[in-house]
Parts: sequence; C-alpha cells; structure tokens
Amino acid sequence: MTDFENDNFLRACWKKETEFTPIWFMRQAGRYLESYRKVRAKNDVLTICKTPELSAKVTVDATTELGVDAAIIFADIMLPLEGIGQSFKLVDGVGPIVEKPIRQMEDVKRIGKFSPKDHVPFVTDAIELAIQQLDGRAPLIGFSGAPFTLASYLIEGNPSRDFTKTKRMMYAEPEAWTLLMTRLSSMIHDYLLAQIRAGVDAVQLFDTWSGCLSPFDYEKFVLPFNKQIFERLKPGGVPRIHFGVGTAGILKLMREAGGDVFGIDWRISLDEAWAILGDIAIQGNLDPAILLGGNELVHTRSKEILSRVGGRPGHIFNLGHGVLPETSPEHVKNLVQFIHGTTRTKQ
Ligand code: CP3
Repeated sequence: MTDFENDNFLRACWKKETEFTPIWFMRQAGRYLESYRKVRAKNDVLTICKTPELSAKVTVDATTELGVDAAIIFADIMLPLEGIGQSFKLVDGVGPIVEKPIRQMEDVKRIGKFSPKDHVPFVTDAIELAIQQLDGRAPLIGFSGAPFTLASYLIEGNPSRDFTKTKRMMYAEPEAWTLLMTRLSSMIHDYLLAQIRAGVDAVQLFDTWSGCLSPFDYEKFVLPFNKQIFERLKPGGVPRIHFGVGTAGILKLMREAGGDVFGIDWRISLDEAWAILGDIAIQGNLDPAILLGGNELVHTRSKEILSRVGGRPGHIFNLGHGVLPETSPEHVKNLVQFIHGTTRTKQ
C-alpha cells in the first residue's frame, strides 16, 4: 500500500483518529472549475472518461486545486454499460439517455458478459496514471453505480423523477427484474474489483436513486444485490462507501446491505443517522445548495454539522450530493480550509 502524505481520509473510513476532519466532494471535477471547463471545451464528457491522460488530469487538477483529502477518478456510472451492449449518450444539462431501453425479459436476455479488460481498459489505465501523478499526496477513490440506479437508467431510458417504468418491471415482471439485477450486480462487482486491482484506495457504490423505494421494496428488490456486491468486495481490503440520496427511511436496511462508510444527504441530521446506523463511519452531509449562499452561511451550517458529529471518529465531511455547476470554486476552497482549520484546532 502507498505511504500517503495525508491519510486522514482512509483513517476516518476505518474510524481511526485523524489530524483534522477529512473532506472531499462528489463531482469535485466539474463544470464549476475553470481548469475542467478548459478541458471540456475541447472534449465531451465521454471523451474525457475514455482518454486516460485527460481523465487523470482533471482528477488530479481538481484534487490539487481544492486541497481536498481524497481524489475520485473521473469517470461516469454509465461507462461499463456500453460493453454489455447498452449504448447511451450523455446529454448536457439532462444526463444519460439510453438508446434501446430495457422493458422486458427479452431485452434483459440480450445483456452481454462484462469484461473489464476489453470494455473499460481506459478506466483502469486512468486510475494507474492518476495514482502516479498524485504521488502519495492523497488516496484515490474508485466507483460504480449500484444495480438499482443503473437499472433505473436502463429501464426509463432517461433521467426520471418517479421511476414508474422501473417499478413496473419490479412489480409486474419480477423474473426479468431479478435477472437484470443479477447481471448488473455481477458486472458491478467485476468492475470495482478491476479498479481495486488497478490500485484505488477506496470504492464508492453510488446507489443514488434507491431512496425512491419503500423500505419493504428496498429490502425485497435491492438489498440482496447490494449485499452480495459488498460481501464479495470485502477481501479487496479497501474501504467500501455506500452512498444514496433521500435514504433516511432505509438507512437501517442499507447498513444490513453493507459498507464501511455511509454517504448521507442533508435530509437527516448526522446524529440521527448515527443513531440508526450504529458504530460506523459516515460521509456527509451539507446541502450542495448551501454553497450558493456565501461563506458565512457555509460556515454556520458546517459548524452545525460538526456539532452533530460531536467529535466522534469516522466522519468524512462531504456534500449530500454532487457540487452544483453554478457553485463558485472560491466557496468550495474556503469550505475545505474552514473544515481543516476548525477541526484541527479543536483536537
Ligand atoms: O465526482 C467526481 O468528480 C467524479 C466524476 C463523476 C461523473 N459522474 C462525471 C460527470 C461521477 C462520480 C459521476 C457519477 C454519476 N454519473 C452518477 C452518480 C452520482 C450522482 O450524482 O448521484 C450519475 C447519476 C451519473 C449520470 C450522469 N452523468 C449525470 C446525471 C450527468 C449530468 C448531466 C448534466 O449535464 O448535468 C452526467 C454527466 C457528467 N458526468 C458530468 C460529470 C462531471 C457533468 C459535467 C459535464 O457535462 O462536463
């Protein structure tokens, strides 16, 4: 394992003492950063993802510029789907659009076998390059979409608010649902294992949309698949982060599904989340929109979060979801310094 200049993120994942509260951001390399916009002006998102030099560059530049305690490889949750025969486009300001959405058993049966070496060599190459360039300054996080979240894009065909088509398949075609989730779970496991083998120091499973389900449906239709992924990744030895949005009602079940760190959004306060989750590391949970309100507001709300943490080990500061494109980079950098400064003097 690499000797890090700054291992506070990894220490917090394992609930060990840290010099200060570590902080990083989902979507820390994004349109709000000028260095990213420069690369993006000449390349679309998928070209950046598929060109290891560009992916490594935007990953490392964002980490250095913000002074955060972890890097996250620049990729997208949709990337492994192309290899298994599911073509898609990423449309600006909208999100993923799938060419031939999955609606029935026949469509599920058309899903091909996933091979990281053949289908996503650019991701593992980008990871290796980013690790070289980070040179021990910060750990690198790898990630994948979770089965439900990927299934929802494949079934809806586009970003959705109510997930009606997804739920229809779950309720009306349970066999097709089970086969789809089984195939996606196997792909996700192989994808994350390939990232661990390429050297990532932690992995995050983005189950962004599972919070739309009742606890009963989550337990029946999603939990077993996430659980299998987490169990199979445990021998990899790196912290496994389990993230979702609007998950206050399913936190207990998410804990049962597994993970070493739980990513929480702003709809629940961290002390309440801890009471439900028990003794485990938590990542979160400032509302990304607070950053649009200026430094003073950011400081007040961050102090509120830190007071809910109450000095427990195992807190990683983050937003409850990704950085919004309209955010000022100065406010993001100020937040990093504020969190480092306040938590360092307190210890
Ligand atoms: O966090 C990071 O810095 C790593 C980069 C990252 C991207 N996508 C790059 C990207 C990560 C972690 C993702 C994950 C992802 N992609 C998720 C799960 C995370 C979440 O936000 O809940 C989802 C749902 C997607 C699908 C997707 N790709 C969406 C919804 C969008 C936004 C569409 C838009 O234009 O607003 C994308 C495109 C995309 N992927 C961007 C980035 C930084 C948008 C910026 C751009 O167009 O350059």
